[in-house]
Amino acid sequence: MIDVTTELYGIIGNPVRHSLSPMIHNKAFRKMGLNAVYLAFEVKDLKEAIDGIRGLGIRGVSVTLPFKNQIIPFLDKVEEVAGKIQAVNTLLNEGEKLIGYNTDWRGALEALEEKVDLKGKRVVLLGAGGAARAIGFALKTRDCEVIISNRTMEKGARLAKELMCIHQPLSSIEGLKADVIINATSAGMYPYDEESPLPKKVLEKGMTVMDIVYKPLQTKLLREAEEIGCLTINGLEMLSRQGAAQLEIWTGKRPGVLQIKNDLRRALSTQIHRREEG
Ligand code: ATR
Repeated sequence: MIDVTTELYGIIGNPVRHSLSPMIHNKAFRKMGLNAVYLAFEVKDLKEAIDGIRGLGIRGVSVTLPFKNQIIPFLDKVEEVAGKIQAVNTLLNEGEKLIGYNTDWRGALEALEEKVDLKGKRVVLLGAGGAARAIGFALKTRDCEVIISNRTMEKGARLAKELMCIHQPLSSIEGLKADVIINATSAGMYPYDEESPLPKKVLEKGMTVMDIVYKPLQTKLLREAEEIGCLTINGLEMLSRQGAAQLEIWTGKRPGVLQIKNDLRRALSTQIHRREEG
């Protein structure tokens, strides 16, 4: 029931109409018994949007492209790892202060650590874009060896330098030994479902392979990894946990990840059906 005590949350980005966040968060609020609603705001002028959040006392906001980095100078405080990543995907409006967090790195770590102990492991991180940055800094909080591997040399080398780790170009990845491989590129994402960032022969039985792509859920990379006998982690794991972490920052309560995962799985399969019909 929406009434005078209902708290307002939302997502700012451009575009945002495709976002699954309103569905996830509204369902979670209901499940958690909270009087709150979450809306999508397609923002043209970031400064005006920030003034609106402050002026109206919007309690919590998800931030998506293209604002994750641009928003930082407008905030009162930024969580340490989000500051290093230079990307904020979550705002908390607390005591008239806007605090910025990044839950992508937490979601990625939680998804990985549920399946594998990272300590002492050699982790190959594919990509050097925003997602790879978040995961790279996440891995730096753990005692593991990180190797960045990107298609474009200069971008990969730049991120590796920032993370103080090695860069191995994606084109010469064959023969590279790894305990964990993480795909943080968009290779394999719809409509390029038949692409994989890696040749199959790089994969070995016993490796853990995580893909952040969630459209489709079973990417070519994960399909091949399963065929070889790797442990696989699909894109829903990080996505659901980054959403759960947002809800925890806003409400102080941890929602059920399983529920969020099921809601997302249903929403994603509906989107695929619509695409097939359309
Ligand atoms: P995001 O913010 O989602 O990480 P991004 O900043 O556009 O998106 O970065 C996309 C990443 O996927 C980049 O590392 C890109 O490699 P380049 O730096 O060479 O462009 C990588 N990428 C995209 N398509 C790829 C493909 N088909 N094979 C390998 N890497 C790919």
